[in-house]
Amino acid sequence: MSRRQVGSTRRNGSFPFAGAFNSKSKSSPLLSIGLVVVGAILLIGYVYKGSGAFGGSKIVSRFEGDFSCTSEVQRAIPFLQKAYSGSMHKVLHIGPDTCSVVSALLKEEETEAWGVEPYEIEDADSHCKSLVRKGIVRVADIKFSLPYKAKSFSLVIVSDALDYLSPKYLNKTLPEIARVSIDGLVIFAGLPGQQKAKVSELSKFGRPAKMRSASWWVRYFVQTSLEENEAASKKFEQAASKGSYQPSCQVFHLNSYH
Ligand SMILES: *[C@@H]1O[C@H](CO)[C@@H](O)[C@H](O)[C@H]1NC(C)=O
Repeated sequence: MSRRQVGSTRRNGSFPFAGAFNSKSKSSPLLSIGLVVVGAILLIGYVYKGSGAFGGSKIVSRFEGDFSCTSEVQRAIPFLQKAYSGSMHKVLHIGPDTCSVVSALLKEEETEAWGVEPYEIEDADSHCKSLVRKGIVRVADIKFSLPYKAKSFSLVIVSDALDYLSPKYLNKTLPEIARVSIDGLVIFAGLPGQQKAKVSELSKFGRPAKMRSASWWVRYFVQTSLEENEAASKKFEQAASKGSYQPSCQVFHLNSYH
């Protein structure tokens, strides 16, 4: 047993590759220079490609295809639960395809949910139609007052809706959203450079989405006297990083008006 081991070690120790390499480099110095040049080109190519990824090509490809912040809300529910443990009992979601979010929220324990669909519901499935029939989901233009009393919901979540509003309408809509909420509002907004509405959908949304930067939104919230809900922001971020969750949208946690 020990002999065989020694033998195999020896065979490995004879370095057949090292020998071949030595003899080659001796016989052809041009070859080794060539190898160095090829190596350098590969290295430069690698570094160049790496910096290209930082330039945004990676980010762009991540957002291609059918992407929406509304589907992001569904992925974020477990982390919203952690951030708003006591405030997820009466939730209103505002945004296109709200039926999908409301259905997901209704599956959560001790969560009641309602939805506002800001646009026409085309090709709604029967489940969505029944939510509308029951009054759980309402189709309402969010440029006007929301059809709810003040402080009707513990938490209001908005996605893919504010990106389509000009500041003039935002000035009406955001205070409305704050009005109907008690413990806060969560806004899912698209990232700049993210393309959502297809040209064929422009008639539905009225205008193309405008993806604003985080600094634009923060400035806007300050102007409108909406404060960040720092406790919820912190808890959400902690839960998200623990669960290796990285939202593909900007998520803002705001206090309701008091
Ligand atoms: C929106 O409201 C803010 C704060 O009241 C104001 O400064 C701003 O001019 C308004 N914008 C528009 C377009 O009405």
